[in-house]
Amino acid sequence: MISIEGLSKFYNTSLSRITAVDNLTLDIEEGDIFGVIGYSGAGKSTFVRLLNRLEEPSSGKVVIDDETITSLNANQLRVTRQEIGMIFQHFNLLWSRTVKDNIAFPLEIAGVAKREREERVQELIELVGLAGREQAYPSQLSGGQKQRVGIARALANKPKVLLCDEATSALDPETTNAILDLLVDINERLGLTVILITHEMHVIRKICKQVAVMEEGKIVEQGDVLDVFLRPKQQVTKKFVEQVMGTNDEDDGVEDLISTYESGKIMKLHFVGETANQALISQIAKSYHIDINILQGKITQMQQGAYGTLFVQMDGDPDEIDRAITFITDETSVEVEVVRDVE
Ligand SMILES: Nc1ncnc2c1ncn2[C@@H]1O[C@H](COP(=O)(O)OP(=O)(O)OP(=O)(O)O)[C@@H](O)[C@H]1O
Ligand SMILES: [Mg+2]
Repeated sequence: MISIEGLSKFYNTSLSRITAVDNLTLDIEEGDIFGVIGYSGAGKSTFVRLLNRLEEPSSGKVVIDDETITSLNANQLRVTRQEIGMIFQHFNLLWSRTVKDNIAFPLEIAGVAKREREERVQELIELVGLAGREQAYPSQLSGGQKQRVGIARALANKPKVLLCDEATSALDPETTNAILDLLVDINERLGLTVILITHEMHVIRKICKQVAVMEEGKIVEQGDVLDVFLRPKQQVTKKFVEQVMGTNDEDDGVEDLISTYESGKIMKLHFVGETANQALISQIAKSYHIDINILQGKITQMQQGAYGTLFVQMDGDPDEIDRAITFITDETSVEVEVVRDVE
């Protein structure tokens, strides 16, 4: 468990004092994938660098697994840092070293013997999917492959925590997804805690369980990703949710569409974390012998399930339709709102 208490960072410039991180208090559960989202300048990088003291806090306390990071001396910090891996947007690889030697670097620093080092490097290469590229130089790798090297290097000393600062921001969407999948795989296999900084809500949506929204050095909103998506409170959070869900115009044009149906029931299904959404519609159509037409909707898949709305028309025996609705209401987490009942 990571516990952060009253953490602040001020920068004094000749003109003013900048508060990059403003009195943050936060707990992060062990084994979590914890997202921190915010716009440029919100203080995300500063925050994450305070956790391993790449930046010295102006005030406050950081405790990781009962070890108070903020009170360690330089020697103790050097040792403890091996338990905190970090990856960066621009990878920060050593350009004159091969893939293998980049990954071996933190092991050399930690004084690991050659033989053990080589075994460990090979393990890591397999883990991140770089087998065959051991002898390549960073300049010969794609962005995704470079980040895989970054991840392997960060994991070399078997850290308990992995800090990711915009680790996918330099990558295209497909490569981003592959790297996010790798992070989930590592989180599950190694059980390490991941703290992920981003300005992209779809990154949070895809892999995080918990999210904190940062603005002007503060956490302005925090919670379960699904809750934050469903009930964003702050303006900044609403804007982030719109990145994924679009603006709140889901009902646009659906009225016209509804008026073209002359029978059956039209309803709006609210998905709030339903895990079986793919199967739901076809299952209902089959089990209740009714026709279901999907009119319009937007569903997004999150780490905990599906979230969004779907307008459907159900046609057939009215009693069967009622039974189908009862099923959805009672047996799933989907909420049903009948919009129009055409008899
Ligand atoms: N070394 C520094 N000296 C002075 N000000 C700094 C320093 N580092 C960061 N800042 C300021 O602190 C604030 C937070 O910066 P930070 O880099 O943490 O934001 P960020 O959320 O990571 O932004 P981005 O999304 O652009 O990476 C900014 O106003 C920035 O200008
Ligand atoms: Mg940053």
